[in-house]
Amino acid sequence: MSLSGKRIVITGGATGIGRAIAGLAVERGAAVVVTGRTEATLKAAVTEIGPGADYRVLDVTDAEAVERVLASVGPFDHLVTGAAEIVAGPFTELPETDARSLFETKFWGQYRAAKAAVPHIAPDGSILFFSGYLYRKAEAGFSGFAAVNGAVEGLVKALAIELAPLRVNAISPGQIDVYEGRMDPDAHARFRADVAAQIPAGRPGTAAEAAHAALFLLENTFTTGTTLDVDGGR
Ligand SMILES: NC(=O)c1ccc[n+]([C@@H]2O[C@H](COP(=O)([O-])OP(=O)(O)OC[C@H]3O[C@@H](n4cnc5c(N)ncnc54)[C@H](OP(=O)(O)O)[C@@H]3O)[C@@H](O)[C@H]2O)c1
Repeated sequence: MSLSGKRIVITGGATGIGRAIAGLAVERGAAVVVTGRTEATLKAAVTEIGPGADYRVLDVTDAEAVERVLASVGPFDHLVTGAAEIVAGPFTELPETDARSLFETKFWGQYRAAKAAVPHIAPDGSILFFSGYLYRKAEAGFSGFAAVNGAVEGLVKALAIELAPLRVNAISPGQIDVYEGRMDPDAHARFRADVAAQIPAGRPGTAAEAAHAALFLLENTFTTGTTLDVDGGR
């Protein structure tokens, strides 16, 4: 299914992988509404993407706001739920409140956005959730992500059955380098070298590569209940 003329809502759509999905979708003829908590970042993304992009300020931990904002968009075809924060630390040291906070944004944020989208989304459209490599390729210090991503992948399988014919999929990014300008340059270079040593692709992925896979899941009308790894082989 072509994305031309389709309307796509992308939570966490002003930065990283969500931003790359927004840009690529507009290139393919879609209109996008990107959401996030920071108006300046949203405005900058929409200006950069150009005609076809709009934004709403939205914190996905606010259930009432999620319903209100998705209703304000009007009918749309696809929902992409990219909003998430980073929470990491040793299991025995990480406060339970931090682990709960990760679930509040990355699991419940996606859950409530999907639920709020159902009355407004076209039945031949789709919902695209975000999982991540840390569920099936666990690493010490990231138990919260392992757990939340596992929960997301379970939810996707159930919703693909319950919400059919609406399609429901997930993308599971591996190590995608969205950190340029966000990390100090030495730490960034170390991150790139560590990842290069770990994965068959020999480098981190780009947001554009993850977005390319995401658009396949939006466009392919026979794919539902699937989690697609985009991870350079690990
Ligand atoms: N990059 C990777 O290597 C990688 C690997 C595995 C999985 N993933 C997953 O991929 C997805 C996208 O991540 P990314 O790497 O592209 O990171 P990112 O650039 O940090 O994007 C996350 C976005 O979520 C927004 N956000 C955070 N908390 C929010 C909240 N409470 N309400 C609304 N928006 C919120 C942020 O904007 P504001 O702060 O302005 O709200 C930001 O735009 C996430 O689910 C992440 O876990 C990424």
